[in-house]
Amino acid sequence: MKILGFNLKMNLLPHEIDDYIKEIKKNKLDNTIFFPSIIYIEKFNNNQITVGSQDIAFNKNGAYTGDVSIYQLKELGIKYSIVGHSERRANYYDDRYVNKKIKLCIDNDVTPLLCVGESGDENSKNETYYICIDEINKAFVGNDNLDKVILVYEPIWAIGSGKTPTNDFIDEIVSNIKKYVYNKYGVKLKVLYGGSVSDENISKLIQIDSVDGFLVGGSSLKTESIKKMIDIVGENR
Ligand code: PGA
Repeated sequence: MKILGFNLKMNLLPHEIDDYIKEIKKNKLDNTIFFPSIIYIEKFNNNQITVGSQDIAFNKNGAYTGDVSIYQLKELGIKYSIVGHSERRANYYDDRYVNKKIKLCIDNDVTPLLCVGESGDENSKNETYYICIDEINKAFVGNDNLDKVILVYEPIWAIGSGKTPTNDFIDEIVSNIKKYVYNKYGVKLKVLYGGSVSDENISKLIQIDSVDGFLVGGSSLKTESIKKMIDIVGENR
């Protein structure tokens, strides 16, 4: 069954979170992972919802004002963490830290969801595959046990835009990424697709066999949309 990751980004207020959790718990949450703001992680975990963090600090502990370490997040209940989301690469220069963060996750039994993907400009220059491979290589170099990683192909131009690549395009990129990673690193990795996935287009996207699931952003804020997406994924096992 395909995986559904819900990236809530910097949304939902403390007074809204209990209702949100109550609604999503009405669904079968077998193959889902929720990525809420850090302040809600413990609450999701206490409700037996599989939970991950949207990021981790690049160091284990110490004088890093504002950061939250993987040790702290693990005690709150995370099993997964997004690493290298394009919003963090753009706003916090995360390209520099992705390699360290992948190592921290692998060493601490947290499954990293490594996000890779091209800008609109790079897409129009047909550079998608090379951008993805370059980001993967930079994240993987020097790291072991790479079979623990889940990849996410997220075209930056598709995130939050309502636009998605065609199924054929996604299939070609994802299949080629899988082949490359297997040939170079000897691991068969799951690859998810992310970027404007919604309850309206998931029935179409789910037909791409090479894609092992989805990372959903904006549509994870609407509990009715979540229900529809979970139902569609469940029906297409
Ligand atoms: P989106 O976000 O579904 O709102 O496009 C996806 C993501 O950033 O993970």
